This record gives sequence, C-alpha cells and structure tokens, in this order.
Amino acid sequence: MMLQSLKEQPQDKIIRLIQEFRDDPRTQKYDLGVGVYRDRSGTTPIMSAVKRAEMRLWETEKTKAYTGLAGEAEFRDAMTGLTLADSVPSGRLASVHTPGGTGAVRQALELVKLASPSARVWISDPSWPNHLSIADHLGLPTRNYRYFDGHSRAVDFDAMMRDLEEAHAGDVLVLHGCCHNPTGANLDAAAWQAVSDLVLAKGLVPLIDIAYQGFGDGLDEDAAGVRLLASRLPEMLIAASCSKNFGIYRERTGLLLAIAESAAAATRTQATLAHLNRQNFSFPPDHGARLVTMILQDHELRAEWESELREIRERMLRLRQSLAGELRRLSGSDRFGFIAAHRGMFSLLGATGKQVMRMRSDKGIYMVGDSRINVAGLNEESIPVLAGAMLEVGL
Ligand code: LMR
Repeated sequence: MMLQSLKEQPQDKIIRLIQEFRDDPRTQKYDLGVGVYRDRSGTTPIMSAVKRAEMRLWETEKTKAYTGLAGEAEFRDAMTGLTLADSVPSGRLASVHTPGGTGAVRQALELVKLASPSARVWISDPSWPNHLSIADHLGLPTRNYRYFDGHSRAVDFDAMMRDLEEAHAGDVLVLHGCCHNPTGANLDAAAWQAVSDLVLAKGLVPLIDIAYQGFGDGLDEDAAGVRLLASRLPEMLIAASCSKNFGIYRERTGLLLAIAESAAAATRTQATLAHLNRQNFSFPPDHGARLVTMILQDHELRAEWESELREIRERMLRLRQSLAGELRRLSGSDRFGFIAAHRGMFSLLGATGKQVMRMRSDKGIYMVGDSRINVAGLNEESIPVLAGAMLEVGL
C-alpha cells in the first residue's frame, strides 16, 4: 500500500509547541511560543486599518475571478515600494505574490534549485527552523554559519564572517532582514556594510527573509540592510511577509522579489517565477494582498496602519524594558540587558533544554525548546513570573 509506506516526518518545534500549550490543562500558563503578536489581553487583534479596508473591499469588489498568475501588479508594486523604496531600478526586478512569507522562501529556494542546483544554502545557526527544512526538502545542500554569541547574546559577527569565508561564488546566503528569528540579535549598519562587501567580493547571492518589517525600529529603519544590499549587488532574492506587520496571518500574503543583473535576466526570472507559482499552487490567494494594496495606496488608511504598527512596536519595546528591568531588580546584575537591546518579537534567552522544560513544568511557561520567547506574549502579570523562573532555573 502506498500510504502505508510513509515515514514519520520530523515535527516542526514551533508547530508542536502550539499543540502542547493547548493540551496543558493548567489555567495558569503562559504562551511565549509561536510568533504571533498579542495585545495586553492576549488576543491577536485585527488592525483597524485592515477592518476598514475590508469594509471598503466588500462594497467595491466586483469579481472573484483569478488574479494574475504572479499576483496583481498593484500589490507587487506596493510591496516592492515598502520593502525596497527606490534602492534598485524597477527594470531589474521580478516578483511574485506567494501564500505568506513561507511561500516566498519556498519559491525562492525552488528558483535556486532550477538555476543552480549545486549552490549551497548558508543558514545562520540558529535560524527559523523552516529555512533549513525547506532547503532540505528540496534537496539543496546546506551549511550553517555561526551567528549568536551565547554569552553576550549579541551577534557574533567575527565568527559569522569567518564561517562565510568558506562560501563559494554562487552560494546562497540566507539573512534575516530585521528582527532575527529566533535570537532577536540583529546586524547593525556597519555589519550590513561589511556583509555587502563580502557578498560582492565572493559573488554570493543573498536570500533575505524580511518577515517583521516595522516590528524593530521602524518601517524604513528595519529595511535599511535590505536596501543597502539591493543598491549594491547584482543579484538578490527577498522573501517579504505581510503576516505580522499587517496582522493578516491566516490570509497568507507574501511577496518574493528577485533582483537581476539585467533587464533581460529580470524578464526571464519573472516568467520562471510565474511558472513556479503555476506548478505549486497556480494563482495566489487575493484577499490579504488586496487589503495590503488598499492600505499602502490610500493616504488615510496608510497613516492609520503606520500608527497602529508604531503602537505594536512600542509595546514590544516597553515589554522588553520591563522584563530587563525586573531581571535587573531581582538579580542585582545587568546581565539581562540584552533583552532590551534585542529587537522584534523574539529573544533567545540562552537557557538549556532542561531549563526550558523546568520553566514549563514548574511555572507553565511555554517557550520554544531553544529558549526563544515571544516578547508579545508577555504582560504585566507574566513578566515577574518569567523573570523569577529564569533566575530559579539558574540563568
Ligand atoms: C514563528 O517563528 O513562530 C513564526 O514565524 C510562525 C511560524 O510559521 O513559524
């Protein structure tokens, strides 16, 4: 029997954690797992700019016929502007609308496989687990580069650059555009500059995953690294997600952008990307993309969205500061200052698997097994609980 021969697939640790949290019968439990924004009441609200766009769409939408195979040009242009601003001439760009940021990563790696199947894919250690598992699934060779200093909990930039010395021309370098997942430790402007020098000197092709634009320091600030590389490099791939910054997770809205060296290569890439969409899922889902387009194009909706996004960002920064402050108070030391220095939704605390499990069993605190916390899952009540638990397990 065909289906009986299926082997068990490795489970994604983030997806498994969602279920484990749900299955825990305790009433006192804290979900610091999956990367979904939550407000102070613990719910993931629909942004009001999104609701208003939905109301307008309901009134004005005339058809549910298919979009273009690559998605609507209006959406792709609006998202290209948000991500790249004017850092690269439009004649060198190709793009497809994909189901979410994961869809964009998948299509990017499919493109790499078609263009250069022996290219090695360099992934930070640690990274979002799906980077490695999608590359593995497609049979692409992968390598890790060191990224995180377990002691300072900052980027270990020297180690990263040393490891990347081993990369060959044509290898793919996966980078996080901002708000590194899972660490929360990010490249600064000087580091981006040095990475772009290295990529140019070695002839690497960056694949930048930017899933949290606007969650770190601001929409433009968070895209500065992507834009710097885009302005300097002949070729690059960018996977952008609207799940988090528009809060439309389940609408599955993302964009894969490819920067080609010439207009002719961009045209060929565009046709290949449309072909890949056709093979994998045919036409992309429209609803989320339509909302994003309306918000980005309409002055008033855009201002409302930007202000809601600012509130989200500022709340996460405040939570970071309170947690770092509580840890300073309880421990009498500054060793947890990294939590306030990190940006985005996540921080990697640097706890062992055993310590993570103890915090889960003793206090009902759920974080990913590598000790990644979702800062947006915290609130005034849980901050002292987490801080106390961290010290109790010996952090
Ligand atoms: C996460 O890292 O938790 C999010 O990006 C959600 C996901 O798909 O893993």
